Amino acid sequence: MNKLVSLAKRRGFIYPSSEIYGGLASCFDYGPLGSEMKKNIKDLWWTSMTRKHRNIVGIDASIMMNPTVWEASGHVSSFNDPMIDDKTTKRRYRADHLIENHIEKLRRDGREDDAHRVSTYYERASETDDPNKTFYDIIIAEEIKAPDTGSSDWTEVRQFNLMFQCNMGALADSSGIVYLRPETAQGIFVNFHNVRESNRMKVPFGIAQIGKAFRNEIVKGNFIFRMVEFEQMEMQYFVKPGTQGESFEAWREERYNWYIEKLGIEREKLHWYKHDKLAHYADLAYDIKFEFPFGIEEIEGIHSRTDFDLKQHQEFSGKNMEYIDQTTKERYIPYVVETSAGCDRLFLALLCDAYTEDVVDGEQRTMLKFSSKIAPVKAAVLPLMKKGEMGAKATQLCDELADNFLVQYDDAGSIGKRYRRQDEIGTPYCFTVDHETLENNTVTVRFRDSAQQERVNISKVKAFLDEQLAK
Ligand code: GAP
Repeated sequence: MNKLVSLAKRRGFIYPSSEIYGGLASCFDYGPLGSEMKKNIKDLWWTSMTRKHRNIVGIDASIMMNPTVWEASGHVSSFNDPMIDDKTTKRRYRADHLIENHIEKLRRDGREDDAHRVSTYYERASETDDPNKTFYDIIIAEEIKAPDTGSSDWTEVRQFNLMFQCNMGALADSSGIVYLRPETAQGIFVNFHNVRESNRMKVPFGIAQIGKAFRNEIVKGNFIFRMVEFEQMEMQYFVKPGTQGESFEAWREERYNWYIEKLGIEREKLHWYKHDKLAHYADLAYDIKFEFPFGIEEIEGIHSRTDFDLKQHQEFSGKNMEYIDQTTKERYIPYVVETSAGCDRLFLALLCDAYTEDVVDGEQRTMLKFSSKIAPVKAAVLPLMKKGEMGAKATQLCDELADNFLVQYDDAGSIGKRYRRQDEIGTPYCFTVDHETLENNTVTVRFRDSAQQERVNISKVKAFLDEQLAK
């Protein structure tokens, strides 16, 4: 991870936020290459989820909403993270994380009965409103404290609400409290009828959204894996009650395949995790997890949210949230299957997946093996000599490509050094303008992964890139 974090900063992918003032925990800024790459991820998700599905449309809801939204959604009362502190090391742990890792370890060790016993307790921990979180304490005291960590001096399990509060308007009392949204989903639920009516949507249909979410995460760390300000790419799919199981399975398959087919992530690095403990809104939930260098962790959740959210909004707003099927005249509150991916976590997964060290032409190189769809810079144009006709042809080629692709022009240093610079930021193709270009109008195209070169006519470079990026 250290190598990755340092490369990300050195080459302009990710910087610590407000670094000149010492930074701010779990906040990061995306640099020139990082923001390009993030945009590529979001564009790919948006195209796959909206344009490729005629019955899914996108919205962009506001981050701040009427505070009653969060009472209705259950976030004010239930969006808590139970925490526990090791008094000896002064480290703070998320109780859920400790328990989930423990259950997974028991399963890996073939102790299925023990795993079942602990996960039954764990489910009860989430169902009960017990303010002291007795079940958590039991699990942690009996199962985890001593054996897993060697420490026995712990605090009790305590609850932290993850929502950020701020005050709107001049009054600093509770009348002006608004929340920064902890998930983008609620902007979709409250707009259910607006979108349905304005776009004549018929169930089943989906609403997609990409946007910022905020959580006052107590346990921080692992670079951009867990941030307090992050971006979600969510889609709520509204279905007829009774059909949610089928829809859930279809979305599970589609989302899993998306990572492999569209992003080129190896299947072996992706894992399914079925939740034993469910969020307050869900009756079934699976995570897609990725093998990060620091462990196998969630990048996307697929949740069966039943009719919980729409029903709650009906109750709290007094507005009817029913859907009327115009053909059968049936009335019902739709069930919802949600796909919820974290853009920043996916960014980190792609960085980790792409990081490669190998030897080319007898020299050690660092390469980011991004798929060309994700790579921030699609091509580099390198004149062998910066002055004269070579420089002019290279500049002209760059300008022509710039309408369609992000291209870098680089005329500094040896060709080998320039290739290494591009390998390190994951540029899939380098076009070199050399002596032969002046004779027959061809340039070399050098492929990042194999370092192989071919010649291509300068007039065909755009078509070449179009073809490669369409793959
Ligand atoms: N609407 C459902 C929902 O928000 P979630 O499992 O809490 O579900 C969905 O979050 C995704 O959002 C996660 O899979 C993860 O990728 C991302 N995410 C959640 N908390 C995050 C954080 N603190 N930092 C970065 N990404 C986060």
